[in-house]
Amino acid sequence: MRMVDLIEKKREGEELTPAEIRYVIEGYTKGDIPDYQMSSFLMAVYFQDMTDAERAELTMAMVESGDQIDLSPIEGIKVDKHSTGGVGDTTTLVLGPLVAACGVPVAKMSGRGLGHTGGTIDKLEAITGFHTELTPEQFTEQVNELKLAVVGQSGNLTPADKKLYALRDVTATVSSIPLIASSIMSKKIASGADAIVLDVKTGDGAFMKTPEEAEKLARAMVRIGKETGRQTMAIISDMSQPLGYAIGNSLEVKEAIDTLKGEGPQDLTELCLVLGSQMVVLGGQADSLEEARGKLEEVIRNGEALRVFRAFVERQGGNPAIADDPDLLPQAAHTFTLEAEAAGWVADIVADDAGTAAMLLGAGRATKESEIDLAVGLVLHKKVGDRVEQGEALATIYANSEDISEAKELLKKSILISGDEVKAPELILEVVTG
Ligand code: URA
Ligand code: CA
Repeated sequence: MRMVDLIEKKREGEELTPAEIRYVIEGYTKGDIPDYQMSSFLMAVYFQDMTDAERAELTMAMVESGDQIDLSPIEGIKVDKHSTGGVGDTTTLVLGPLVAACGVPVAKMSGRGLGHTGGTIDKLEAITGFHTELTPEQFTEQVNELKLAVVGQSGNLTPADKKLYALRDVTATVSSIPLIASSIMSKKIASGADAIVLDVKTGDGAFMKTPEEAEKLARAMVRIGKETGRQTMAIISDMSQPLGYAIGNSLEVKEAIDTLKGEGPQDLTELCLVLGSQMVVLGGQADSLEEARGKLEEVIRNGEALRVFRAFVERQGGNPAIADDPDLLPQAAHTFTLEAEAAGWVADIVADDAGTAAMLLGAGRATKESEIDLAVGLVLHKKVGDRVEQGEALATIYANSEDISEAKELLKKSILISGDEVKAPELILEVVTG
């Protein structure tokens, strides 16, 4: 086989055989195929697309390019959730205990974050004593007993994807549905998921800017799941404004606890119930999304979800008292209020800018080397569609420095107030069950 022939074949819009796709991915991972040929191939895929069979083969070739986590010692159907990324997205912290309380095993590998706030691992480290290093045996035992464990990423997962993603980034080939879909699905499958739930975000705070693009991506991933024998469901959700009210690590942990108690923001709660229902169905603990939702609402109401959270924190070395007294989480030294300059309706909260404001306060990493301040961030008091009066608080800023002018200016600029009544956006735009 010669790479140049495969580039030509794809350029002409023909379908590659499984052996040909393996040749490309294995050759590139090993360094036998140079970047210039791979760049050309990626551009051909960008313009000519891939069939369902090609997408599935590409996904599995990337899965098999590195280590694969074996979750088979864990009892039950392991369902993993993936979000394409948003601002103030606290769903993982809520969903873990919530679906575990319904009997679905959650064996979660998470990362640190780069961007507005930390990743799930950073957020959990806001809890004094919490550690995310477990041996594989401890991890298995904990999930079998508690139904929930979260560990940091380890091992050499999907090296082909890492190398390809870096190349796509500099060759204008990131925004290709078959390439994005196989990239995301390969990472979930290599992490050991039997079934996958996807939250594809759309809006100006998201990777897919329009609902149409988001839907294409969601359908592509659900089909890859089907082709590779991993049941997959997806939703399309709005990310035109931040999710929930809190953006910042310990502030988001507190918000997750509130949500597990049934006292969380309406949008975060709803998103967790919709994603959680899919997880409970795929995990075999309910026959329908309606039945699953009923179970989730029940474990919030009867305190079981919060009990699982408390047990999980304690088991991983953290102080379980934070579940009942979130003020034990790291607290910022100073708070400032951002007030509305005029009365009206909140017309927009530019998610990216609000997230960047939190990062400027120290809540997120600008570079991989940055240190995160777990205590700082911001809490919105209004969401799009809410009425505000002049002088009313729009947000509270939590800072460890008294000079917050840059963050405050950006946050102020991100919240648009209109004299005309504005309707709240739909949160869940679509449910894709395959
Ligand atoms: N996120 C991924 O993991 N891969 C992509 O290709 C794009 C977004
Ligand atoms: Ca917006």
